[in-house]
Amino acid sequence: MNAPASDALVLFGATGDLAYRKIFPALQSLVRSGRLAVPVVGMARSGWTLAQLRARVEASLTEHGAGLDDAAARLLALLGYVDGDYRDAATHRSLRAALGAARHPLHYLAVPPSLFATVIEGIAEAGGAEGARVVVEKPFGRDLASAQALNAALHRRFAEASVFRIDHYLGKEAVQNLLYFRFANAFLEPLWNRNHVGSIQITMAEEIGVQGRGRFYEEVGALRDVVQNHMLQVLAHLVMEPPVGAGAEALRDEKVKVFRGIRPLAAADLVRGQYQGYRAEDGVAADSQVETFVALRLHLDSWRWAGVPIYIRAGKRMAATATEVLVQLERPPQQVFGEAAAAANYLRFRVGPDRVAIAIGALSKRSGAAMVGEPVELYVCNERGPEMSAYERLIGDALAGDPTLFAREDGVEAAWRIVDPVLAAPPPVKIYAAAGWGPPEADAMIAACGGWRRPA
Ligand code: BG6
Repeated sequence: MNAPASDALVLFGATGDLAYRKIFPALQSLVRSGRLAVPVVGMARSGWTLAQLRARVEASLTEHGAGLDDAAARLLALLGYVDGDYRDAATHRSLRAALGAARHPLHYLAVPPSLFATVIEGIAEAGGAEGARVVVEKPFGRDLASAQALNAALHRRFAEASVFRIDHYLGKEAVQNLLYFRFANAFLEPLWNRNHVGSIQITMAEEIGVQGRGRFYEEVGALRDVVQNHMLQVLAHLVMEPPVGAGAEALRDEKVKVFRGIRPLAAADLVRGQYQGYRAEDGVAADSQVETFVALRLHLDSWRWAGVPIYIRAGKRMAATATEVLVQLERPPQQVFGEAAAAANYLRFRVGPDRVAIAIGALSKRSGAAMVGEPVELYVCNERGPEMSAYERLIGDALAGDPTLFAREDGVEAAWRIVDPVLAAPPPVKIYAAAGWGPPEADAMIAACGGWRRPA
């Protein structure tokens, strides 16, 4: 990789929520580890001063970061601020001036997608696109057509190699370990196909509701918020073919093939739910039909996976907070010991929160005279937790110009193609009780494959 390292970081949306909760704490860690030592220019149209932004960064690091340590002081010293309307050419000229001699700034667009095109044009018109890179946050569009329009707007001014689309799940240690565990070991490969895998299921459960983000969530819903991106990326790591050769593109090519192989989702393969009380949240319509839960069944038409049903469920206000992948293996051909246990053999990958964990489910003989077994798990767990947050990892990679963990144009569009038909004509939402596991229809959908497994 010979991309030049970024020599400045521009943060559009510096006074916003994402910057406060995720980005500033990640920058603090990057400063500490020596991966960030270039000017950081905050941008916003809030009528603020640099002193106000500094105070905001201090509050962010106190609440969500490592506190006001030495790295915080160094980050504050790198900080600049430009205030203004993104539609105003003068704002972008001020930014250009603030960047001084920087030739390869990284422009981080932590702003709503409706502003992407305006900001991109403003940067380019002020002469700031050449040699620069741009990071865009999800949601990347709200359907296939709008994603294509966003990609077109980006590509008018930036080559694809300079565009870094964040999906923070790709920065998670456990999501990377899915890939590593599969391809660094030989023993999985003979099992990893339609002959031995009966079904695949992924659960992403969150105890939290929409947490004051009702207005945003009303425009999005669970399918757009976490399935089109996070869940499909996790699935791709689980089912993709090994990359041919090294480098970011070989890996991203294989992921795109997965998305292209998944049949567009049919309404019959989708259950939409909404938690009781959602309609009373701030910013939510009294008759909202937006889903806070989905369960879906996917079909991947590939030589390896033909006929293996893939289930995904994701919801808010669930009974637990956990993201887990379960690969259910077929039963032994004969029941030598008369075992009736159906679901004894599986692989379970804990994706979150926090620790990486992998378990292999098996039956083992119970001590005693009879040949009777009990389910056990061969279990590994990274007790230390991740060294880096997902945002730290991804912003560091973008600053270094490494696109491996970012979504590529064709991948994003292929993922939208999967959910597009049901976005246009969604089945009605079913109301479910908070602190449960979603509407009963979601259980019925997977009953033939042994049901959902409660995350451990
Ligand atoms: C975000 C979604 O992308 O991911 C949120 O917008 C969701 O609705 C969050 O809560 C979950 O991320 P994590 O890292 O906490 O699993």
